[in-house]
Amino acid sequence: MTAIHVVSTARRPVEKASEIPSWEMGGQLLKQAMAKAGLESVDAVYASSMMSGELEGQMHLASLIADEAGQSGAEAMDIAAVSASGAAAIRAAYLAIKSGEVRSVAVVGVERMSAADAGPVLRKALHAVREADQTMVLKNASAFALYLQRYGVAYESFANFAINAHRNGARNPLALFQKEIDQDKVLEARVIAEPLRLYDCSPVCDGGACIILSRADFKSGPVKLTASACATDRFILEDRLEPLDFLAARKSFLKACETSGRKSADFKFFEVHDAFNIMACLCLEACGFAEKGQGFRLAESEDIFPEGDLPIATMGGLKARGHPIGATALYQAAEIFAQLTETAGQNQLPGDKIGPALMQSIGGAGTTLFTHFFEPA
Ligand code: COA
Repeated sequence: MTAIHVVSTARRPVEKASEIPSWEMGGQLLKQAMAKAGLESVDAVYASSMMSGELEGQMHLASLIADEAGQSGAEAMDIAAVSASGAAAIRAAYLAIKSGEVRSVAVVGVERMSAADAGPVLRKALHAVREADQTMVLKNASAFALYLQRYGVAYESFANFAINAHRNGARNPLALFQKEIDQDKVLEARVIAEPLRLYDCSPVCDGGACIILSRADFKSGPVKLTASACATDRFILEDRLEPLDFLAARKSFLKACETSGRKSADFKFFEVHDAFNIMACLCLEACGFAEKGQGFRLAESEDIFPEGDLPIATMGGLKARGHPIGATALYQAAEIFAQLTETAGQNQLPGDKIGPALMQSIGGAGTTLFTHFFEPA
């Protein structure tokens, strides 16, 4: 099987409120990515958005985006897995190209959370009946409380997750938050749901990003997508034997390792799903970068900083670049592309970090996990 390459990417600035609808964002991004790749057409357009149907009254996005970009005639599908929708679309593209059915796929992720009240839609990632009184914020607050209590960890031990993300966001012109924060700011921030404070959470925002994947023998690019895997856990966090063990993160990571021959020690940096800092910590543990109950130490020791052993959220992550849900995984992938092509501007990692990169994307409260590996072609 020929390799799968990322041939080009396009990203919009993440905004509090976009003036244009998500399908227009998608059409513009698709045109930009095709122009950068020197492609006049793509075989397929896969689109991801969790909310356009409910907040903008628009479903059937992929075909509309294809049309906006002059690509009517292409195969087009909407792909979804709530907050991991973008990663699900990347995986669908990976499988389609691997099967030999298509040669090139543009994966377009868009979200306009400002279009109406996103809260009621976000909670639909949870069980409609058994978790009717819950939200994503409350689920993560309870996991965070359990972690702090079980492992006897002080709240401030997590501060560097937010400090690192905001520092990297401050250097990324496309990030929603472009200012650095210090430990006092984190500790003094308002409580959102005990023990979660403001800087433990990602924001509600708008954005869009696109990557074009291709069979290398059809169109080659500078970055390879070397593995794609998905795994699930028990749907409801409290139904799991061990709620602090992100089993789906570990399973999808191990599946990707199996197919690519990679192991934890090979990875130079990690675009982690830091929708909440506790999620980043549990993913670090699940992928074997820290023992159970020790993931926060990688933040405390500054190992997750750009100069550290395992930089994470190198362009601000979900926390500071922003988490426009259906677009998020496309930002993560495009940011990895920027790092690996040494076009990450002020956030560029040093040369010894240009190597295998890991990306994880989470649907729901650790329920559906996607792992993707990239490396220079
Ligand atoms: N981090 C840092 N600052 C934030 C922020 C965040 N997550 N969310 C909002 N702010 C800032 C805003 O920029 C604004 O600053 P300004 O006054 O300087 O303009 C200020 O806080 C008030 O913003 P507002 O939107 O009114 O905040 P809020 O209290 O309504 O929302 C949260 C804060 C944390 C509740 C909200 O961002 C949230 O719900 N986040 C989680 C979203 C989620 O569940 N995503 C899915 C995860 S899978």
